[in-house]
Amino acid sequence: MVIKKVGVIGCGLMGHGIVQVAAQGGCSVIALETEQRFLDSGLARIEKSLAKLAEKNVEKQKMTAEQAKAWVSEVRARISGSLDRRALADCDLVVEAIVEDLPVKLALFKELGSICKKETIFASNTSSFSIGEMAGASGRPDRMVGLHFFNPVQLMKLVEVVRTKDTSDESFAAARAFGEACGKTPVACKDTPGFVVNRLLVPYMAQSLMMLERGDATKEDIDAAMQLGCGYPMGPITLTDYVGLDTTLAIIEGWVKRYPKEPAFAIPEVLRTKVKEGKLGRKTGEGFYKWEGDKKV
Ligand code: CAA
Ligand code: NAD
Repeated sequence: MVIKKVGVIGCGLMGHGIVQVAAQGGCSVIALETEQRFLDSGLARIEKSLAKLAEKNVEKQKMTAEQAKAWVSEVRARISGSLDRRALADCDLVVEAIVEDLPVKLALFKELGSICKKETIFASNTSSFSIGEMAGASGRPDRMVGLHFFNPVQLMKLVEVVRTKDTSDESFAAARAFGEACGKTPVACKDTPGFVVNRLLVPYMAQSLMMLERGDATKEDIDAAMQLGCGYPMGPITLTDYVGLDTTLAIIEGWVKRYPKEPAFAIPEVLRTKVKEGKLGRKTGEGFYKWEGDKKV
């Protein structure tokens, strides 16, 4: 099965990037949101990102200015927006990228199961929840996969393709091919908590916050240490701001509840406090650092 028409539910930090790379890969894409203002803001981010990528392509002489302009118009023409889930009825693939809240995701997949044509493949971009559980809610476990993209979607080259015991070979192959069409390198993962990347990355981010709580080092020094000592592009505390403190907390809280005996899953108190204060990181202009747009200040 070749994926030509894609629905992306949620046009936030991750969703807008998935809409964009799918359109860049030649798919026709519908972005679905709950309110017009969220849809507008997601589509505006896509415009900004496309303009930046076009500028870079011209700078690197991969395209002439005219070709870049035509490329942006072509990609843009493949994207539409909607607030009505029924618009996704005849999509070949629907990718969910809404808030990291399992009951909300389960309710969504249940509804999608009754809206979409029977061939539609469902995917979740969840950071931490079980794809199998969502598959149960969708009523079509053979056609459910995880498609876990990385932030910022436009620049990160990986997609984790997650299969459950019920995912059919055909659905898995179609999802993998879609990831490649989006310009990503797919890796196959089992349906385990955090798949490959987050199972390693999120406990590391949490440990860096506990280090900060203990006063072992300043946030700047922790970040500099991991950037300069390990060659990471961002330190773990900047990365937590980048991912979103609410999303990071939701991931660890879900794991702590479900796997209380796993010592690697522990919630740093400072993370709870910041989220309570509404300091969610880059997206609200402040987390552990202050941000102006995409830049740390
Ligand atoms: N679209 C287009 N262009 C973009 C962009 C976007 N979305 N985001 C950034 N850029 C551009 C910038 O404008 C910049 O352009 P200029 O050079 O012209 O200024 C260029 O890309 C480089 O960006 P930065 O200046 O910000 O510098 P950078 O070299 O640090 O690159 C980065 C940014 C690629 C994000 C890099 O810092 C990085 O790889 N960081 C680590 C990110 C990471 O670990 N992501 C995974 C998070 S975990 C996750 O996603 C899973 C989960 O479930 C939580
Ligand atoms: P976000 O808060 O930036 O965006 C979520 C969007 O979904 C919002 O715009 C919201 O209006 C919309 N939404 C919520 N409920 C909806 C519904 N029922 N129908 C349609 N739209 C709805 O969150 P995000 O950071 O983009 O995370 C989205 C998903 O991607 C989560 O599952 C998260 O764990 C996962 N993820 C996040 C990152 C990251 O770095 N932030 C990386 C990989 C995966």
